[in-house]
Amino acid sequence: MTETITLPGLVDVHTHLRVPGGEHKEDFRTGTAAALAGGITTILGMPNTSPPLSTPEVLAAAREQAAQDILCDVGLFAGASPEEINRLVECAPRAAALKIYLNDTFGPLRVEDVPTLMACFATWPRDKMIAMHAEKQSVAVGIGLAATYNRPVHFCHISRRHEIELIAQAKAKGLPVTCEVTPHHLFLTEADATRLGPLGDMRPLLGTPSDVAALWEHLPETVDCIATDHAPHTLAEKQSATPPPGVIGLETSLPLMLTAVQQNRLTLERLIELMHTNPRRIFNLPQQPDTAVTVQLTADTITNEMVQSKCGWTPFHGTEVAAKVQKVVLRGEVVFEDGRVLAQPGSGKLLS
Ligand code: NCD
Ligand code: ZN
Repeated sequence: MTETITLPGLVDVHTHLRVPGGEHKEDFRTGTAAALAGGITTILGMPNTSPPLSTPEVLAAAREQAAQDILCDVGLFAGASPEEINRLVECAPRAAALKIYLNDTFGPLRVEDVPTLMACFATWPRDKMIAMHAEKQSVAVGIGLAATYNRPVHFCHISRRHEIELIAQAKAKGLPVTCEVTPHHLFLTEADATRLGPLGDMRPLLGTPSDVAALWEHLPETVDCIATDHAPHTLAEKQSATPPPGVIGLETSLPLMLTAVQQNRLTLERLIELMHTNPRRIFNLPQQPDTAVTVQLTADTITNEMVQSKCGWTPFHGTEVAAKVQKVVLRGEVVFEDGRVLAQPGSGKLLS
């Protein structure tokens, strides 16, 4: 008989849901279906939509759409934008946290000036997290702001050896910083980027073997969360002359991480901290009563055909894993079972 294990509902603090403006890539229903298929019952949606979630009006409209469509619990990030910075405080009641993009990636949001950074840190409510897309020396900028304003900063998708080492040193000094890493930065390297072409292109880029080794070395201590950076783009877009960066991850994160548990690369207890306890604590997200994920510990192959996300492909197509999500119960309701999403649109809770 196949062994099964039960986990709490998992949390992903880094998902791109593409509403408004990118509904051909993903929408609130398909994105939350992908989450449930991956054993994830709470997600935080990123603000680099079109237009971005940088004004209370755009946030309110996105929340209205989400309330009708979501299958699991969803909070939205507000996005810092220099042009709309005077509207930032009004965004706070409708947002779970603030996202600041310091480096280039998909979408228009970018903060490259000190006055905007100062305004973010001076005005964003202290009880809500500030998360940063910070690569290379920008990590030092984020650590400096956390120290200067004495308030927590969460670093998204840390991917390079010197970045995780800098964060480890900041933590050793007692600075209030936390960080996430993605499964694609743990399981793929720059060699896979070459093999996959545009399907292996994302920000941050896939690392060297030394970068990947550093992330695994720091998984027991420095890393706080596994986050997917689920960033759907259609195959046609990826195969175009100007492919956008990003790959999906909601459905493959848990099977990949449980495969690492089976290989003794981390413990099951640590996996639960990284994918449930820590993200919930860091972003102050509510508990979900009567919620559980049943996983079969069985050989499985990830394929494009099983993908619930609207984009319909995964960079892990063909990858062998050692676990398969069998069933998800959210607040007492069976919302996913044997490959089928059973939740009703609008049954998820919208977080503020
Ligand atoms: C993300 C996207 O497509 O929205 N792309 C990516 O490569 N990660 C943007 C981001 O998170 O940087
Ligand atoms: Zn992202």
